Amino acid sequence: MKQRVLLTGGAGYIGSHTYVALVEAGYDVLILDNFSNAARDVPKRLAKITGHEAVVVEANVLDRASLDRVFAEQKIDAVIHFAAFKSVGESVRKPLAYMQNNVVGLVNLMQAMDNAGVRRLVFSSSATVYGEAVELPTPETAPLSYGNPYGYSKLVCEQIIEQTVASDRGWTVGVLRYFNPVGAHPSGLIGEDPSGIPDNLMPYVAKVAAGELPILSVFGNDYPTPDGTGVRDYIHVVDLARGHVQSLAALERDGQGHVVNLGTGRGYSVLELIATYARASNRDIPYKIAPRRDGDAAASYADPSLAKKVLGFEAQYDLFDMCRTSWVWMQNSAETAE
Ligand code: UD1
Repeated sequence: MKQRVLLTGGAGYIGSHTYVALVEAGYDVLILDNFSNAARDVPKRLAKITGHEAVVVEANVLDRASLDRVFAEQKIDAVIHFAAFKSVGESVRKPLAYMQNNVVGLVNLMQAMDNAGVRRLVFSSSATVYGEAVELPTPETAPLSYGNPYGYSKLVCEQIIEQTVASDRGWTVGVLRYFNPVGAHPSGLIGEDPSGIPDNLMPYVAKVAAGELPILSVFGNDYPTPDGTGVRDYIHVVDLARGHVQSLAALERDGQGHVVNLGTGRGYSVLELIATYARASNRDIPYKIAPRRDGDAAASYADPSLAKKVLGFEAQYDLFDMCRTSWVWMQNSAETAE
């Protein structure tokens, strides 16, 4: 019997790539999404990639009645919870919206799951829970903190999960702390939503390479890093998606939860990323040095050894693959939008 997995936020950037990885691994997958930050045609694109129609329930995780209906009508074995807000800048302007969507959304979902007797969960967390990392590479045992409402919401969610697991009601939860997910599925059919002006580096670089934005601002070149620009652990979204499949498999196999980093363990600077993207796209990427962005750390990269030990997870793709697939997606999504 195939295991059936519910993906909240399954039409979003990481959710859609995880959908593909799960279907390829033989899971039966159901998407729950309210399309507040995902394109309407994602299910059609997923069907094209997998060869099977994608089953989608259009609902908000804040809507408890809809969640209860899904659990009553479908036999669900496990849930992967992606649905959340993720912009640091927006969270500073709208902290309560972040608490409601991210924190109340999780509580609501876990209550609906508990009520239905479904207690296997994989949760999207972030390396943001390390705040300004005091240990590099950062292991899961590093101290936790936060620097903005988004980070706070993820930290609170992790603590809610910890307390719930401690209640001994049979919960097994995998908490995955993502470093910097980038890139796209090699088909060029799904990727990060290209609408608007991106906050994050790679989508911004993609738009500059495509000529949609004139120039990239490099936020600071006086950090204590080899070339002075910020260093991050970029991880290919296809690798990250596989991490979820392996997390789910570990929960089933081990019967106990885990909290692990998903990163490559290797940091790249902003200038290295720009140079690699220029090579992958064969385009010039004009940039200028600008002041540091508030709240940015000099460097962040994972100690990936626990994920290897507990999940058997190791990232396979390098920065060039990340840039190349981002560029294919950028070109395809520009064509589709025309
Ligand atoms: C950011 C968030 C992090 C969140 C993650 C989600 C902040 C402070 N951190 O991570 O909490 O989990 O996104 O994806 O917002 N950069 C430029 N020019 C740009 C954009 C970025 O030079 O136009 C630099 C940054 O200074 C940084 C690096 O590129 O050194 C990566 O930035 P970004 O992609 O925004 O990711 P993080 O800041 O690591």
